[in-house]
Amino acid sequence: MTRHFRRDDDLSPVEYLQVLDMAAELKADRFAYRPLEGPRAVAVIFDKHSTRTRVSFSVGIAELGGYPLVIDAQTSQLGRGEPIADTARVLDRQCAAIVWRTFAQQRLDDMAAASAVPVVNALTDDYHPCQMLADLQTVRERKGTLAGLTLTYAGDGANNMAHSYLLAGALVGMHVRVASPAGFAPAADVLARAGEIAARTGGSVAHVTDPYDGFAGADVLATDTWVSMGQESEAGDREAPFVPFALTASAVAAAGPDPVVLHCLPAYRGKEIAADVIDGPASAVWDEAENRLHAQKALLTWLLAQEATS
Ligand code: CP
Ligand code: NVA
Repeated sequence: MTRHFRRDDDLSPVEYLQVLDMAAELKADRFAYRPLEGPRAVAVIFDKHSTRTRVSFSVGIAELGGYPLVIDAQTSQLGRGEPIADTARVLDRQCAAIVWRTFAQQRLDDMAAASAVPVVNALTDDYHPCQMLADLQTVRERKGTLAGLTLTYAGDGANNMAHSYLLAGALVGMHVRVASPAGFAPAADVLARAGEIAARTGGSVAHVTDPYDGFAGADVLATDTWVSMGQESEAGDREAPFVPFALTASAVAAAGPDPVVLHCLPAYRGKEIAADVIDGPASAVWDEAENRLHAQKALLTWLLAQEATS
């Protein structure tokens, strides 16, 4: 069976740590794995803007011995309405994997359902699982462990980052708190699924509406833009309710000793994160951005290894 990475919990807790271990190996030796030697092509398709995802997949696929085929969806037939399943059946005959950044999660799921090669979620409206591998690699580097740590994500609790922190944090046994205004709570089904996973891994998940209930004692503080791609028309309503949830110096002071500050980037200084926090000593955001490269190389290597053994 072809394995996909549509959302964080497509990997089991054991598999998730295997990928993080490989990411650490690949960081120490950039050319440790060459599963795409040939070169084999990987399609990397964008329905939305990107800097980090585009660069890290392009560089990573090349470093794995492969050829990155970066496609702007608007200039492909997908952008003119060619069925997703037909696109999958064309790509999977020529590419070793398909990486896609799109809008609705259903589109990504439809691509995976029709594809004979692994499909990787490079961000949808609902999840950003590749970012999460990089984030947890970064926390592990700084803290030496993941299980038992408290990670608080503050901001839009209903967006892709919030949902992926819940699932991925639960998979590695963290205590994940999402702090958001009441009207921007995580989807109930995601919160419930993360809770089920956490019950098995020794972690926990919670949604809080008082930001300091989130910040207090946290080992990791994370945030993200209040206005995700596709929500630009809601920007006016997405400011005032979020201001108390910003990562400011006082939020960092309320956290535990030596907290790690994460932001997937791009960041809006003075909005969801203060300049002195993102540019201050607790910030790990540049390591986090670099780790996209190592984590995604590990993921592709792991997924392709499952192909080889199935
Ligand atoms: N963090 C992230 O996914 O960045 P890009 O939108 O630049 O790819
Ligand atoms: N939540 C943000 C993440 C950007 C990497 C968005 O979807 O725009």
